[in-house]
Amino acid sequence: MTSRTVAVVSAGLAQPSSTRLLADQLAAAARDELAGRGAAVELRAVELREHAHDVVNHLLTGFAPAALRQTLDAVAAADALIAVTPIFNASYNGLFKSFFDVIDRDTLAGKPVLIGATGGTARHSLALEHAVRPMFTYLRAATLPTAVFAAPEDWAGDDGDSALRSRIRRAAAELAEQVDRRPPATGPADPFALTTDFADLLAGRDPA
Ligand SMILES: Cc1cc2nc3c(=O)[nH]c(=O)nc-3n(C[C@H](O)[C@H](O)[C@H](O)COP(=O)(O)O)c2cc1C
Repeated sequence: MTSRTVAVVSAGLAQPSSTRLLADQLAAAARDELAGRGAAVELRAVELREHAHDVVNHLLTGFAPAALRQTLDAVAAADALIAVTPIFNASYNGLFKSFFDVIDRDTLAGKPVLIGATGGTARHSLALEHAVRPMFTYLRAATLPTAVFAAPEDWAGDDGDSALRSRIRRAAAELAEQVDRRPPATGPADPFALTTDFADLLAGRDPA
């Protein structure tokens, strides 16, 4: 059985958070889909509000405090990412953007990313397409075709068979398919790794 890890990043600010609720439902559906394909799945939930101060410190100093470093490494080491933001002023919120501003370069390149958002009005659902998706395209992520937006009316009367549920299932199936096609993720590169042969170094040979 292959082990797979899915990082689940949620940028909701309220407590309880509808963004976290959507992230949890996407994560559970992704876990079920991957389990159906014979994978043992570990979900790594990341509440960005817990890292808000560290994210700003990283922006100001260029260094990640230890807890944020661990989280950035966990995202880098994951086989896939679920990234969910509340819509603020017709775009992702500042916390979501700032987190992905400090993520290490190339971390998301080729990684399957399921994007989701919550908002106060369904009229802003396309913010996923004109704001969130282009950011992940820039980061060279393999963003899944189905993006999931939840407006307040999507939660009301959710009997487990709503339009929202079927979008969640479709997005989760796309994520599982993409993860299944890839070898298990190897994690972030070790900045102290020895990249040249030690014998060459001792002999003074130019590794190039
Ligand atoms: C400052 C601010 C700006 C917002 N702007 C929008 C908006 O432009 N469009 C929208 O649909 N909802 C907007 N909302 C509503 C939030 O997106 C919505 O309440 C969201 O589900 C909150 O997520 P949370 O419960 O996880 O914090 C805004 C909320 C705040 C606080």
